[in-house]
Amino acid sequence: MTLSSVKSAILSIGISLPSKVLTNKDLEKILNTSDSWITERTGIKTRHILEDQELISTHAIKAAKKALEKANLSPKDLNLIICATFTPDYLMPTLSILVQEGIGALNAGVFDISATCSGFIYGLSIADQFIKNNPNWKILVVGAEALSRKINWKDRSTCILFGDGAGAVVVGKSPSQESGIIDFVLGAIPNNWSLLTLKGGGSCFAPFDERLPKEEYFIKMQGKEVFKIAVKTLEEVTLTLLKRNKITPERIDLLIPHQANLRIIEFLRKKLKLSKEKVYVNIQKYGNTSAASIPIALYEAQKKNKLKKNNLILSVAFGGSFTFGGILIKW
Ligand code: ACO
Repeated sequence: MTLSSVKSAILSIGISLPSKVLTNKDLEKILNTSDSWITERTGIKTRHILEDQELISTHAIKAAKKALEKANLSPKDLNLIICATFTPDYLMPTLSILVQEGIGALNAGVFDISATCSGFIYGLSIADQFIKNNPNWKILVVGAEALSRKINWKDRSTCILFGDGAGAVVVGKSPSQESGIIDFVLGAIPNNWSLLTLKGGGSCFAPFDERLPKEEYFIKMQGKEVFKIAVKTLEEVTLTLLKRNKITPERIDLLIPHQANLRIIEFLRKKLKLSKEKVYVNIQKYGNTSAASIPIALYEAQKKNKLKKNNLILSVAFGGSFTFGGILIKW
């Protein structure tokens, strides 16, 4: 077998979510908003939120332990840990080192990647490349976000959208040549990043620099503009992947899109002429959990027996900066 013919696959999935749930009705009490506005404009009903002293690393570790257990692997079997997040506990130490420590993965190299909502797809594609060159490696890819910590709870157009959570997968050599990761697309759109920012905490400004308004320590988004770019980009990514692999949309068994807004997902579903059964949606429960949204959806889809052997699974994401990614998998 040549190295290039090695296929990587997701061997197992684990997730962990904070137990505190914030409903639209709860938000009605603190904001000038309504359950009907949020449901109609976003599809979101509830989101899981960290308690005051709770850390997202705790959930990343729990998700990782579950994924390892399911894959029947010891933490020491891991060669690499990749954490996709833009809301780690700290800038340093990274989330990946906290996960390494928390699960006892003493033989693993670790790094974080920051590609916002596309982060998990970026992470999977990196793992895929490592497996092609090191077929015996086992890699943990984690998507984890503590978005509630980076939300301006007075900004009703943005704070209603996000939730916290973590998902983790173990990636290794596919047990069969016929299944595994087939192809992926990664990309980014320049010149639009100012529509969605989180400036505070970076090195442009020194800590507590008075030139930076306090609101800049939270996610700021021009939602309508972001929406238009998201819809167009997700369609382009999907069609690029399908065309390149000579696959017609009806051959997709399950589309697992990043969960940012039900209207964005519906737009894509209709463009591809897919039935509702072929598109996985859980945004109503979790809101947008950024890099965690796809592994959480994958986990649930598997639990509902929607990831059957040889199924064609397509996952696409778009997020701040603006990054995008898509991945095609034969399960
Ligand atoms: N409750 C009630 N009214 C509201 C709320 C709210 N929570 N939020 C906004 N409104 C009002 C606005 O003030 C506005 O009122 P006006 O017409 O009197 O000015 C009206 O509702 C319409 O506001 P819009 O912003 O135009 O609403 P829109 O339909 O665009 O929905 C939303 C906003 C949900 C944010 C949408 O634009 C969206 O989902 N955008 C894309 C988000 C996304 O995909 N982000 C990328 C990933 S995120 C990441 O990477 C971190």
